[in-house]
Amino acid sequence: MSPSSPCPIHDLATAFDPLDLSDPFPLLGRARREQPVFYSPAIDYWVVTRYDDVKAIFRDHETYTAANTISPIVPFSEAVRRLLAARDYTPEPVLSNNVPPGHTRIRSLVNRLFTPRRMKSFAPTIRAIAERGVERIAGRAPLDIVAELTYEYPAFVLFHVLGVPDADVPRGKAWAGNRIKLYYGRPTAAEQIAMTENLAPFWSYVVELVAEKARAPQDDLTSDLIRMRAGDDSVLTLNEIASCMITLLVAGHETTTAQINNALLHLLTQREHWQALCAAPADIPRALEEMMRYDPSVCTWRRLTAKPSTINGVEIPAGANLLLMLNSANRDEGVFPEPDDIIVERDNLKDQLAFGYGIHYCVGAPLARLEMAILLETLTRELPGLRLADGQALEYTRNISFRGPVALHVTW
Ligand code: HEM
Repeated sequence: MSPSSPCPIHDLATAFDPLDLSDPFPLLGRARREQPVFYSPAIDYWVVTRYDDVKAIFRDHETYTAANTISPIVPFSEAVRRLLAARDYTPEPVLSNNVPPGHTRIRSLVNRLFTPRRMKSFAPTIRAIAERGVERIAGRAPLDIVAELTYEYPAFVLFHVLGVPDADVPRGKAWAGNRIKLYYGRPTAAEQIAMTENLAPFWSYVVELVAEKARAPQDDLTSDLIRMRAGDDSVLTLNEIASCMITLLVAGHETTTAQINNALLHLLTQREHWQALCAAPADIPRALEEMMRYDPSVCTWRRLTAKPSTINGVEIPAGANLLLMLNSANRDEGVFPEPDDIIVERDNLKDQLAFGYGIHYCVGAPLARLEMAILLETLTRELPGLRLADGQALEYTRNISFRGPVALHVTW
């Protein structure tokens, strides 16, 4: 849905490249000051940059639904749709892109899996995974810490929690990365077909995994979901469980890998913060919260207007796509003074929006916080001399929502 009149600050809208995540902050700062809500013709989305507006949108899930959060930026071609149908690709909206009452039903079950208490019970295993990973890199400096540690670490954690075999981490990571590029990037028609070919086996794998857990439930969260269902489709169908699983198998590690990478990048760039954490590891959870405010890995999220509305004085029609700039909201100077500085002692860190807000608030937040803290505790203890290698150019994958450096060369 395009706006009826041209944007008064046209150059802001044209300068904004929603897929270029390399350094979004200067333009977003300008947008917050000059044009906090603007239309981006590049993707046909309204861009919302101020904290209060983003939070109000998250809060009002009736006017602003989450139905578009997994919609491909480049709509699927007829060929892709035929291919997916031929491969029995049948995921349905369950969590991220679902709306009440279906979302409420499924979310209330999934909430029971991811309680902070249950997550804490995984802490010893997560610590062992972190220690094994750090031990593997010790003595091998310099290296790319993404390739050697942070790319796979959250997947090993998540797979353990969900009861997915460790041996499948490499293909699970590749499938998830492919899915992100397909839905959140701008593939050509040929790339879209190739990515779809790669998506179909991911779904088949998940369907088979759920069928196997249904046959022989084990001590993991996937089996717990199957137990809650107790064979009753009105509680949850097996296809809904598989749909939850494919969501978790993307949302549950790509986000965390990127968030760890963002945290390491900034803590090691302004190394006094790293040194402070080595001296006082009890501050790690608070420092991570500030890292999520400063550079959230899910840098944007989406909503769809169910009816006409006005956001910061701008009239938005029904059926319009909104791009909520979490990375801009988290740097709103009205809420976080000196937003471009890392200030671990901020007294309102709990207000940062990196995990969203409202009914779709990240269900995996307790797990993400725990595993990130454990990894930083391990790294600050075992490799306190960690620092960035000189003269590296950072690379970010072109997409609209997931930001984190692809590689991070370090030494110690
Ligand atoms: C640092 C890591 C993470 C970040 C920054 C992050 C961020 C987010 C954000 C911004 C949302 C959207 C919230 C909204 O619409 O209001 C979300 C939703 C979600 N996240 Fe996370 N997430 C992270 C880790 C995880 C993990 C570890 C899991 C799973 C174990 C997970 C599973 C989900 C799911 C299933 C949803 C959809 C919830 C719903 O719609 O009800 N996330 N996350």
